Amino acid sequence: MELEARPVKYSQTTLTELMIPSYANFGGKIHGGILLSLIDKVAYACASRHASNYCVTVSVDTVNFLEPVEVGDLVSLHASVNYVGRTSLVIGIRVVAENVRNGIQRHTNTSYVTMVAKGEDDKPTKVPPLLLETREDGRRYLEAMKRKELKERYRDDFDNEKNRLTVDHNVEKLLNERCVIGWKE
Ligand SMILES: CC(C)(COP(=O)(O)OP(=O)(O)OC[C@H]1O[C@@H](n2cnc3c(N)ncnc32)[C@H](O)[C@@H]1OP(=O)(O)O)[C@@H](O)C(=O)NCCC(=O)NCCS
Repeated sequence: MELEARPVKYSQTTLTELMIPSYANFGGKIHGGILLSLIDKVAYACASRHASNYCVTVSVDTVNFLEPVEVGDLVSLHASVNYVGRTSLVIGIRVVAENVRNGIQRHTNTSYVTMVAKGEDDKPTKVPPLLLETREDGRRYLEAMKRKELKERYRDDFDNEKNRLTVDHNVEKLLNERCVIGWKE
């Protein structure tokens, strides 16, 4: 039996967190790993809401760090289901850092996380279809389909290339690189 479609807004989730000094790296900016952890957390919350099931992270498909985040910023992560497969969901996450003193907001990250819903037997389980209520929802869905298609193509191409990329037949490609060959023939 087909599950009832759920609108994107049903599971839209925002997580807001203050960037405290212990989150900083040696350069005084927020550590990338802190943001990745928050991205994973909000993706989980959004996916699990849509699926009404626990979800696991399968892949973090894209993380673009566009600008550094500062200690003292209030970071909000806005998560929406962009795409659903049979058991998988792609969650788009927009990260916005706000300077609390002047209210200026900066878009610092965009990420796409693929999650899979698990049933009580710990196996992947079907998720509800996504109800696209706006053209924006439609655009995001189409873009996610294209990203999925390109990712699959890249994976196939890379697997083919990798099989041909033996060190014996390609060692000359290393000669103009900034590496030093340390093994002896
Ligand atoms: C994710 C997992 C359930 C997939 O198991 P599997 O046996 O490959 O299951 P399936 O082949 O049925 O795939 C399930 C879905 O995952 C998707 N999937 C699997 N690997 C994927 C990948 N690398 N990227 C994107 N989607 C992927 C499949 O396309 C499928 O989606 P669909 O049902 O919407 O078509 C399994 O690999 C797993 O449990 N991984 C560990 C996840 C985890 O613990 N994450 C936390 C890390 S600490």
